[in-house]
Amino acid sequence: MDQSEPQKPKYSSETVPIIDFGPYLAGEPGALERTAAEADAASRSLGFFFIRNHGVSQELIDRMFAETMRFHELPLERKLEVKVTPKENVGYLPQGGQTQLSYSKLYGESKHPDRSISYFVRKEYPEDHPDRLAGKPWVSNNRWPRELPGFRETCIEYFGAMSNTARRILTLHSVALGLGRDWLVEHDAFSKDAYTLRLLDYPPRDPLLDGQWGIGPHTDYGYGAILAQARVPGLEILTIKGDWIQAPALEGHLLFNCGDFAHRWTNGRYRAAPHRVVNYSGVHRNSVVFFTNSRGDVSMDCFPTCKSATEPPKFEATSFGEYITMLRKTNHTLKD
Ligand SMILES: [Fe+2]
Repeated sequence: MDQSEPQKPKYSSETVPIIDFGPYLAGEPGALERTAAEADAASRSLGFFFIRNHGVSQELIDRMFAETMRFHELPLERKLEVKVTPKENVGYLPQGGQTQLSYSKLYGESKHPDRSISYFVRKEYPEDHPDRLAGKPWVSNNRWPRELPGFRETCIEYFGAMSNTARRILTLHSVALGLGRDWLVEHDAFSKDAYTLRLLDYPPRDPLLDGQWGIGPHTDYGYGAILAQARVPGLEILTIKGDWIQAPALEGHLLFNCGDFAHRWTNGRYRAAPHRVVNYSGVHRNSVVFFTNSRGDVSMDCFPTCKSATEPPKFEATSFGEYITMLRKTNHTLKD
């Protein structure tokens, strides 16, 4: 056994900040600026924060989880009918379809494919939508399972609710960074809801396999992610000090984290924290992640308020599309 691998690490007592969106969403005087300052502080330190009173109905979240479980409980052959293709990352990603490699040396090696199983959804564009007819690059072809009434409708409704939540977070970052309230929301990079919804199932970890994770250590590629967890915890986050903390599955809360593009576009101010998932429980764990990615075809170096003559951009201008293409070559393996 490799002794350097943190299979059963000691966990830090540092906790994930909790931010109450209630007063901000109610439009209380001063709440926007106050909440923006809290989101800013959390984004600069741990890079993760819980959202209390996020404005998304618990009924919808519960229904999304019920549909997630219903999908994953389908016979394998039904799910394989909607398997992801090398061309588009939408649909079903079977177990073993992904192995995280990029942080292996630093944060614990992934010696086996991730144990998680996924279903990916992008924004739904009707057949006659002008963007679809024009072949716009942000239009994907969702792969809906047949004979699963209510599944598609719930995914689309949840996608819409999370798009609103993403805009609220972008507004907070925009205010905190001095860009002006609507700068990010109105920027081309976020103009087409180029987000991805991922419905996850984590079977219990195989205790016989060292270095196997539900999802191996990684940072998120895009601007950020909004996570809803069911009852079983499993997410672990690396702190600035280099300790792992376990995020609880806090009922009624969403969890936001900054990704690589929040880091790049804030010139390093916001932290894309390495994190991983391991299901130590004896039961399946489900989570629903909404990746608040920017448009694949919009390139930016960093936000105008995050650079100056004495603080030039640290990162080259990159679009999400270019970045993900580069990462896929080394990090994200799709197998037959
Ligand atoms: Fe992640």
